[in-house]
Amino acid sequence: MDWLKDMYEDHGAVLKICNLLTAYSKKLGEGKEDAGKLDEILELVHMFTERCHHGKEEKALFPVIGKRNHDLIAILVKEHAEGKRLMQIVRDGARNDKIAAIRSYGELTRAHIMKENLFFNDCHGKQGDEDRKALSLAFSRINSAALGKRSSGDVLGSIGKLGASIEAL
Ligand SMILES: [Fe+2]
Ligand SMILES: [Fe+2]
Repeated sequence: MDWLKDMYEDHGAVLKICNLLTAYSKKLGEGKEDAGKLDEILELVHMFTERCHHGKEEKALFPVIGKRNHDLIAILVKEHAEGKRLMQIVRDGARNDKIAAIRSYGELTRAHIMKENLFFNDCHGKQGDEDRKALSLAFSRINSAALGKRSSGDVLGSIGKLGASIEAL
């Protein structure tokens, strides 16, 4: 798959996972809690957003498109780390801290993705055949390492099911 299409598809799933967190935060605000459901969302963040998507960006894409954009890449990598820090608060913090961290994570993630989409779109088409082939191979390798036998369709299915069960809380 073309790397830009792959990134757009990933961003769609990352935003859906972010929406799960927002939905859970709304329930928290209503005094409803389900640690098991929160664990499932955090597992998706870890497996898909961090290991799979950020893995592809940091280990494969950024080294190729970042040669003349060191400052922007440094900001993007720092934002990945900030997202990870906020997820730690969502995991371990008190209820109000969880709610605040989820709000910050949503704002960070939406702005981050808008920034990346513009940047990626601008870079697309400037790679040679070799770079494009290498990216495609690296993306497949990182997808398998992070997702195992699950396809991105399976991940979207899990997101949908989890969304319905959070609504029902
Ligand atoms: Fe990113
Ligand atoms: Fe991204």
